[in-house]
Amino acid sequence: MTTLYEVHGTVAVITLNNPPVNGLGYATRLSITDNLQKANADSAIKSIVITGAGKAFSGGADIKEFGSPKALAEPNLLSVILMIENSAKPVIAAIHSVCMGGGLELALGCHYRIAAPGCSVALPEVKLGLVPGAGGTQRLPRALGVEAALNMIVSGEPVKSELLAQIPGQKLFDKLAASPESLAAEALAYAQSVADTRPLPLVRNLPCKHPNGDAYFQFARNMVGGMSKNYPAPLKCVAAVEAATKRKFDDGLAFERELFINLMWTPEGRALRHIFMAERAASKIPDVPSDTPQRAIKSIAVIGAGTMGGGISMNFLNAGIPVKMLEMKQEALDRGIATIRKNYEAQVKKGKLKQDKYEQRMSLLSTTLSYDDLKEADMVIEAVFEEMGVKERVFKELDRVMKPGAILASNTSTLDMNQIAAFTKRPQDVIGTHFFSPANVMKLLEVIRGEKTAKDVLATVMALGKKIRKTAVVSGVCDGFIGNRMIEQYGRQGGFLLDEGCTPEQVDKAIEKFGFAMGPFRMGDLAGNDIGWAIRKRRYTEKPDMKYSKTADLLCEKGRFGQKTGAGWYDYVAGKRDAIPNAEVVKVIEDHRKSLGITPRKISDEEIVQRLVYSLVNEAAHILEEGIASKASDIDMVYLMGYGFPIYRGGPMNYADQVGLFNVVQSMNRFAKNPLDDANFWKPAPLLARLAAEGKTFN
Ligand code: NAI
Repeated sequence: MTTLYEVHGTVAVITLNNPPVNGLGYATRLSITDNLQKANADSAIKSIVITGAGKAFSGGADIKEFGSPKALAEPNLLSVILMIENSAKPVIAAIHSVCMGGGLELALGCHYRIAAPGCSVALPEVKLGLVPGAGGTQRLPRALGVEAALNMIVSGEPVKSELLAQIPGQKLFDKLAASPESLAAEALAYAQSVADTRPLPLVRNLPCKHPNGDAYFQFARNMVGGMSKNYPAPLKCVAAVEAATKRKFDDGLAFERELFINLMWTPEGRALRHIFMAERAASKIPDVPSDTPQRAIKSIAVIGAGTMGGGISMNFLNAGIPVKMLEMKQEALDRGIATIRKNYEAQVKKGKLKQDKYEQRMSLLSTTLSYDDLKEADMVIEAVFEEMGVKERVFKELDRVMKPGAILASNTSTLDMNQIAAFTKRPQDVIGTHFFSPANVMKLLEVIRGEKTAKDVLATVMALGKKIRKTAVVSGVCDGFIGNRMIEQYGRQGGFLLDEGCTPEQVDKAIEKFGFAMGPFRMGDLAGNDIGWAIRKRRYTEKPDMKYSKTADLLCEKGRFGQKTGAGWYDYVAGKRDAIPNAEVVKVIEDHRKSLGITPRKISDEEIVQRLVYSLVNEAAHILEEGIASKASDIDMVYLMGYGFPIYRGGPMNYADQVGLFNVVQSMNRFAKNPLDDANFWKPAPLLARLAAEGKTFN
């Protein structure tokens, strides 16, 4: 039952009942119209209340239906709203908790609205690359005023009901209930009080004007256009609201619908909706049911107070979870604490954190030099030097002191988690938590599932990731896990492009124009080129047949490690991050090219982008096939949240799907013929080859 029908005296109450957020999918819409007919046909009923069961009035459309025939199937939301407007008996929306998107549009179609305080009200369609499609852009400006409505529609951000109720002249809410608890009774009383009022008020009949019409909308277009370069939807929102002020209601509605349908198929809109679903899918692990019991994590220990240990600790302090940091020396602890303080103080200075909150967070932090002090912690995260010998010593100590059932995590970025787990007598309790730097800022958390990691440990760490507001993605054990394993191939292509004729600046600019936050060379300078150098040195012995450009090594031999040394692929002025091209670097590249006997050629931006992006895609296809990632959308989340892949392209797998896997494979076959590239690598991964041949997609 997606809606419930109850009669209270002369009032029929239709309760949306489609957990978790009363989404307005096909079955729910059908059920609303059935019940509206029933109430209208019953002569004992004088008025009708629509409300929502559980945690929401309604969260809006059922996004799973988007793009499928069900989304538009009759009764679509427009028809449901029309039916409410045309109801012979007054319809009152009793709104609480969450009233968003289609839910708000439905409420705006009702004759009256009564809201509980504390309700989050929004038209968030723009965040999914859309304009509201069921009258939101036409009714909200009439109910709320043009400027307040436009702000809500263009930002998609929720506003609390009690704030909206204070807007002078607003007609969004006819009444604000005294409390969420009293809403139901107040709505019934209100419904009785308006039972005989005629004619019934309709938002569509309200005037919609802005005193400085044209100038205001020009200003809005300039503002919104500047802020949303790669996204068409925000400007369309402005156009739709402008139409509300200039066209007759039904014309405006038709215009909004046309915009909505056109936006439904833009690559940006599809990417945003893919991300919305991918984010939710990431927390679902095929063989770990959502009701898997979890271990209680009330306190955390962190080993190592360096770059990562400090940032990792902050995540837990922010979430109100006490942290104990362990180091080998007091000086290291002092340095770690000072860095954490500096970070918080910067936030206080910027007004992002209140002084008392800062102190409260610091009061949750304690330190120690002794492993024996950690025995009470529910979970420990190790962030010490990246050396197996050091990890071995630490994990043996942890195995000795940690209480039974404690979770033992490592932040290693490259080492074999199974080997680390084997240093303990409890490999089932060991897991990888790979944070990204800066760990208190970056959204991505790769959760590394070892061969023996217990399901409840995995479920606990995934839930903990959510608690500290990370996007947690599960990866199996392999060198580099999902993200860094892929980036190695991307970096290798960057090197070949230099050998063949590019400058670092050309490569960076091309991929940044594609939308990456940073090109491979600026990224190398930020992360430290010495890290890649160390990995390559290891590779030269592990995989002697793997081909690498040597230019990066030549650069490192000159000590150009990146921003931290003031010089890398570019030069840097102390305290600034601007990358300044350097002639000496260009000469190193040219000399190396000459030594290889290569005549440089002009390489198009298109080729640069394809080689960099498809190198990610091909490696990702191997990762997927090997089961390191359980779904393609997880790989997209890793790249969107951790590596600056452009959001509006939806991640490498979504992008490849949109280009068409057949086309991707054709390009790879072409790259494989380039004698200066690595033909072996460009052999399409079997999964990719198969999907391309069958005309299928990753996602
Ligand atoms: P770091 O060198 O800044 O900090 C390591 C800290 O561990 C130092 O303060 C050191 O005194 C301490 N330490 C070393 N051995 C110890 C021991 N036996 N007991 C207690 N403390 C000990 O290193 P960073 O960058 O924080 O890296 C830590 C781990 O995080 C490494 O495994 C690294 O691969 C990984 N990682 C680093 C990232 C980065 O961007 N820096 C990103 C993701 C993972």
